Amino acid sequence: MRIGIFSDPEAVADAAAEYLISVMNTTDHKVLGVATGSTPLPLYERLRAAHEAGTFTLEDAQAFALDEYVGIDPEHPERYRNVLRTELVGADKTGLTDENLHTPNGNAEDPDAAALAYDEEIKTAGGVTLQILGIGADGHIGFNEPAISLVSRTHVDALTAKTRSDNARFFDDDISKVPTHCVTQGLGTIMDAKEVLLLATGENKADAVRELVEGAVSAHWPATVLQMHPKATILVDEAAAAKLELTDFYKERWEAR
Ligand code: F6R
Repeated sequence: MRIGIFSDPEAVADAAAEYLISVMNTTDHKVLGVATGSTPLPLYERLRAAHEAGTFTLEDAQAFALDEYVGIDPEHPERYRNVLRTELVGADKTGLTDENLHTPNGNAEDPDAAALAYDEEIKTAGGVTLQILGIGADGHIGFNEPAISLVSRTHVDALTAKTRSDNARFFDDDISKVPTHCVTQGLGTIMDAKEVLLLATGENKADAVRELVEGAVSAHWPATVLQMHPKATILVDEAAAAKLELTDFYKERWEAR
């Protein structure tokens, strides 16, 4: 893993945008894996600015979301498809088209079948070139909560009480409005991406980041599976890095990259 430690969330977003733009501008397989939640929002802001400046476009790219809530009102602004539309879709955003934005169908009659179909859709597209990830305070990536199989594929799952309470801020601070289930790419699906770029900011993520980088690989902290990924870049701010032991070494190695 390569670990970049930056002063604050803005500096994390600057580094993430620089990295993502250079990968997407040089690949001929333009398939981007996108995350929701609040962490990547400053990155998306920079991608929109780069699109406006003419230095970056997702016009000819496909994007695959990590996850979606099950049973959420299709018009709800927090439905992940709608969040990603607002952030990325359109000539006035990043150039991504609505038809090239792929999200799991959380409203399918048979969500399990829809999950399997989504996994196949990613494979048919030739896989993801670069997967953006956030991380939950309990160590989830996508919505792979503790004790999930480390080789899981896209599936329907329950959200933990911790994740629902963390996400209540998007639902009028009312946990009863947060969906109880999701469709999420599995850990095996995420691990298939050629490169992963995980962003974490804020002290609330410090335990999860410590486990991710220095803990033992364990389904108790699902993100630790990324230690087995051949090309994982972890960008964090000082607050999220606060519980790491080998900070000076990571900084040195990042500077020498
Ligand atoms: C979102 C996702 C989640 C979030 C995580 C962190 O698509 O898959 O894993 O990345 O819950 O969320 P924030 O960034 O809101 O702290």
